[in-house]
Amino acid sequence: MPATEKILYGGDYNPEQWPRAVWEDDYAAFDEASIDTVTLAVFGWSYLQPAEDTYDFTRLDEIVARAVEGGRQIVLATSTGALPPWLAHAYPEVNRTDFEGRAHAYGQRHNACPSSPVYRRLSAELAGRIAERYAGTPGLVAWHVGNEYGGYDGGCWCERCAVAFRGWLRERYGTIERLNEAWNATFWSHLFSDWDQVVPPNKLTEHWRGPDHTAFQGITLDYRRFMTDAMRQNFRDEKARIREHDATTPVTTNFMGMFRPLDYHRWADDLDFASWDNYPPGQREHARMALAHDLMRGLKDGAPFWVMEQTPTITASRDVNPVKRPGVLRLWSWQAVAHGADAVLYFQMRQSKGACEKYHGAMLDHAGRRDTRSFREIAALGGELRGLGDAVLGARTPARVALLFDWDSWWAAEMTDGFNRHARYVDTVLAYYRALWQANADVDVVPVTADLSRYDVVVAPMLHLLKGDVAARLEGVAARGGTVLSSFWAGRVDEDDNAFLLDAPGPLGPLFGIRVEETDSAEPGVVNPVALHDPDLDDVAGAAGTPGSGEAPLVVGGELVFEVLVPQGAEVVGTYGAEFYAGAPAVTRHRVGGTDGVPGEAWYVATALDEPGVSWVVRRVLDRHGLVGPYADVPDLELAVRERDGDRTAFVLNHAQETVEVAAHAAGTDLLTGRRIEHGEPLRLAPTDVVVLREDRS
Ligand code: GLA
Ligand code: ZN
Repeated sequence: MPATEKILYGGDYNPEQWPRAVWEDDYAAFDEASIDTVTLAVFGWSYLQPAEDTYDFTRLDEIVARAVEGGRQIVLATSTGALPPWLAHAYPEVNRTDFEGRAHAYGQRHNACPSSPVYRRLSAELAGRIAERYAGTPGLVAWHVGNEYGGYDGGCWCERCAVAFRGWLRERYGTIERLNEAWNATFWSHLFSDWDQVVPPNKLTEHWRGPDHTAFQGITLDYRRFMTDAMRQNFRDEKARIREHDATTPVTTNFMGMFRPLDYHRWADDLDFASWDNYPPGQREHARMALAHDLMRGLKDGAPFWVMEQTPTITASRDVNPVKRPGVLRLWSWQAVAHGADAVLYFQMRQSKGACEKYHGAMLDHAGRRDTRSFREIAALGGELRGLGDAVLGARTPARVALLFDWDSWWAAEMTDGFNRHARYVDTVLAYYRALWQANADVDVVPVTADLSRYDVVVAPMLHLLKGDVAARLEGVAARGGTVLSSFWAGRVDEDDNAFLLDAPGPLGPLFGIRVEETDSAEPGVVNPVALHDPDLDDVAGAAGTPGSGEAPLVVGGELVFEVLVPQGAEVVGTYGAEFYAGAPAVTRHRVGGTDGVPGEAWYVATALDEPGVSWVVRRVLDRHGLVGPYADVPDLELAVRERDGDRTAFVLNHAQETVEVAAHAAGTDLLTGRRIEHGEPLRLAPTDVVVLREDRS
């Protein structure tokens, strides 16, 4: 983690786009807005290396010197986010071949072929030269390699990638027989007799109707893993060259949260710290942003991360680009900090003069005005972050709940034929996360390989693909009295995407105490009512019984996927209300294992329940561990905690569109206002209001 004195504030700064005189206005504005950090040279390649044998650092020297003179911290990029024209022309192999098989010519950005030896050599060389020149620069806090790896199609399908893919496969499978087995190649006569017969899966080969429709999931899954590793290798190439000149300054690259093409968990070890760019798709995405923050924090085992970019006002890339409403920038920035961000940075400091981002929001607009609403909000937030000092730096989230996020399951589930293409992985994960979030639970979003022994509750939505010993470790959670919750399509396939020759949910069957007999699907909007009974209010319902009649059931809706469950020891908690399987179990609980008389529990939800349904299940699961928070019943009021050395800081964030009034959950001091707050005292939060409560030590 970079060593800093406060939460960093600033962002991408590209002064090479305007005259020197303007820089002085920029720095005056930085002072006014408490901007302490600039990210430089994200797209500098064409001016830093105007020809293959010419490097020219004159301009970057001036930019860096001005930042040093201004006492700013510097995040220095390696400038490899976009290719210079001469390179693409001299070596067309650096351009990607797209999913449709078309070899691209020069243009755009984030589009180098990751397997091109020329690209690998020259990008690493540039990173090395920049590191050689600027290592040791005063204020240098981090290296920023590349930019938003992935690109438009999320990959390349060229001949060089084909060769590299074959090498990757040899390494993974060793023998062609093992490869044939993994891909179930006897199906449709695909038995390969030589590695060279393998070609990248794309529109010209195994796919029809796009990236999610493949004749062989195995090869497509492997190609995505390979592409992740290929781009990761690009990052490693550059990082290695940086390390030749700078042994200590942390190195990162800016990820994109829930970005499907790249399995960020495969990269995590290579990052010194995680950072990401927060551009939510809409205006009311607080739970989704929280999920993405937690996912990014989970990359480095809960260590703080950075928001490398967010827009201060609008994005430019969508069809409709509304401005952030008053207070929203502040609210979302504090939300990031609440979830573990130790830096809140913008794209960008001054608006570009031309090209597709000329209207993208920036701290300063084209006229450089500071007497605007948006600048005032940016400056006010800068003042608050300065005021907070180091109070939460390095602090961690004391989560008792883990949510498993798995790119392999995401990929496999969404390229699977036979069920329902409308049931999406992130929608499902988000449905469960949102319920946890609304219940004020602090959540670690972690890979399936994470140590689960520190959690009371483990939620694993749509855990479609099982790899390693995850089933055993989930059993371990229940065995010590914890609770596991999973949903439809769990435990269907192994790591190669071949079905288990077992009842679903495969190796998870014993844990959940069920088997899936049929899997029905319906168009979006077709609802099957699900009646939910609180199993603890009704002990009459025996192990394999039906819900008893003690309490009127809550009727919620199920959609898209309807697995018909047959209990194998589980209690029935919810039943379908319609179709030929009316009365069959849709939600179950299996009491299993446990310690000191407290059993573990494994809950299974066999359909895409609506929000009240998911919330009902999640509340019960949290409740048994005392994890339902104090503001759980106040819609859109967020509570997130960071802890360091026994100090707890609680962030209370009002995302609702109304003012709310609650009784303070603890006594302490609001670090933003210095105001003393007593336990139980009425706390009024207008829309977008934030309280940062340093709780008294008990
Ligand atoms: C991304 C990029 C930036 C910029 C912003 C605009 O995050 O990294 O260079 O294009 O988007 O939103
Ligand atoms: Zn390629």
